[in-house]
Amino acid sequence: MLGAAAMSHAQQDPAAATAPRTIEVVAKRFAFEPARIEVTEGERVRLVVKSADGVHGIEIKKFKVNKKVPRGGDPVTIDFVASAAGEYPILCSEYCGDGHEDMKGMLVVVAK
Ligand code: CUA
Repeated sequence: MLGAAAMSHAQQDPAAATAPRTIEVVAKRFAFEPARIEVTEGERVRLVVKSADGVHGIEIKKFKVNKKVPRGGDPVTIDFVASAAGEYPILCSEYCGDGHEDMKGMLVVVAK
């Protein structure tokens, strides 16, 4: 059980009070836009991803992100915490044609 002191500390944590950094991403044959996403270590990140054509996927292995992006432009929302600094590939996780293997972006998490 958490003591009262621990609970009030959690409520005052400034990171918990701020909205996530929201980034809109468009997936299309065969690229993500923007291709490079830069955030800060420890930041809460919300990706809102839509397809401009057919089905794609978006995967960032480090943060256990993997979602299908449907055709037709309906957005999918993905929340995660950029808990470790580094450069992480953003991959397409659904086969989408001849350029599928080349459909890559980069998530750059800058150290605090
Ligand atoms: Cu886009 Cu595979």
